[in-house]
Amino acid sequence: MNKLNLTINYESYKSLAGLNDEDKALCSQAEQALKTSYSPYSNFKVGTAIRLNNGKVVMGSNQENVAYPSGLCAERVALFTIGSAFPDAVIESMAITAQTDNFKIMNPVTSCGACLQVMAEFELKQKKEIEVLFYCLNGEVIKIKGIKSLLPFAFFEGRLAV
Ligand code: THU
Repeated sequence: MNKLNLTINYESYKSLAGLNDEDKALCSQAEQALKTSYSPYSNFKVGTAIRLNNGKVVMGSNQENVAYPSGLCAERVALFTIGSAFPDAVIESMAITAQTDNFKIMNPVTSCGACLQVMAEFELKQKKEIEVLFYCLNGEVIKIKGIKSLLPFAFFEGRLAV
């Protein structure tokens, strides 16, 4: 038996003020995306903005359904939009934030495992790391480069056969 250890590196900012202008703009677009959230069942709005290498920014928000599992997270709404509308574009960076009237969110909202798995495949396909900004309306921003740091054991057929 071997005991192994994984380390991840990421940046933490007390507020948006510490970010560069490009990242600030992306976070504010993620905030804009909150307005299109359809979340009558959870009352939890999630918004994302994804910057592509073609200069376009694609926004997404969570879309729920009365048949609960039929709904989709904000991240996958935006990612699959990119897959279908801009299949050859490279994702540079994505910002994610959330808002709810149920409680005050005090920490950056991080993406669920299913969204991380989808991000991981986009990263594999484009052969370039994606930068992710998890942003809290009340303060902290976490910036991580590369989905490997978020989901080191992502499911990939390629890894299984080696
Ligand atoms: N949600 C997202 O949009 N992204 C995530 O990564 C986690 C959760 C949505 C799904 C649902 O509409 C609401 O947040 C509450 O779970």
